[in-house]
Amino acid sequence: MSIKTATLNGVATIEIARPEKKNALTVAMYQAMTDALIAAKADGAVRAVLITGQPGVFTSGNDIEDFMSRPPGQGSDSMDSPVFRFMRALLECDKPVVAAVTGAAIGIGTTMLLHCDFVYVSDEARLAMPFVALGLVPEFASSLVVPQLMGHRRAAEKLLLGDPFTPEQAVECGIANAVLPAGEVVNHARRVAERFNGLPPGAVREAKQLLRGPQADAILATIRAEGEIFGRRLRSPEAMEAFQAFFQKRKPDFSRF
Ligand code: COA
Repeated sequence: MSIKTATLNGVATIEIARPEKKNALTVAMYQAMTDALIAAKADGAVRAVLITGQPGVFTSGNDIEDFMSRPPGQGSDSMDSPVFRFMRALLECDKPVVAAVTGAAIGIGTTMLLHCDFVYVSDEARLAMPFVALGLVPEFASSLVVPQLMGHRRAAEKLLLGDPFTPEQAVECGIANAVLPAGEVVNHARRVAERFNGLPPGAVREAKQLLRGPQADAILATIRAEGEIFGRRLRSPEAMEAFQAFFQKRKPDFSRF
């Protein structure tokens, strides 16, 4: 199974494990992660959630083959897709979520970090949101949260040009808490998650709700607006050219558009 889950010492771990495809996320993997988040929320013995990947790669984002063959629905249907259900479960998780970014975090690999509470990045990590280069648009409220975190100009570099961030830039921009040596990032993130064993869970839950509260409606409204456009763009000739170029290992040619 490409998603491994385990609960140990109050921490529910969700490990993305599809190294042969750089941890690209399929519909089945979103489903498994959604189930794990819902189970963690319901389990009183779980005090925090840890999301992690494999050495050298956190996730290369949505499986591009799935994008071509099983794109999320359009319009209101897109809100019921596996990826949307996963992001909703992440947003609705009332326990602290800690991410250990073990390597490349591309597309939704970076977008999901915007909705985690703590993010630790390996010194080998690279983050990028190359949606426009793929003929797509920002997703899951990144068009709202990224400019808030780093201002419009730097957000334009990341979201329009798709420029990657170094681990240090991720910290400087407010996406990550700290950079750790590659061999230590998972253990460090786990130790942070385990600290919630010593804190009162009711107060943690209500404090997390307060931290997110003022933005919650705006985030959902933005996700809906982005989702409409994203679903349409996934079926666009520009996106098809970008996806085919990826699999043919060539540069896309957008000159005819
Ligand atoms: N979807 C589907 N397959 C993917 C994938 C993705 N998002 N990312 C990587 N793969 C596959 C490659 O096609 C390749 O498969 P193959 O061995 O059958 O040819 C395999 O994983 C290894 O990837 P490769 O690109 O050769 O590894 P790399 O170390 O040179 O580069 C990345 C790693 C993550 C930088 C690179 O794979 C990449 O840029 N992936 C696409 C990321 C992307 O655009 N995601 C955004 C989606 S919105």
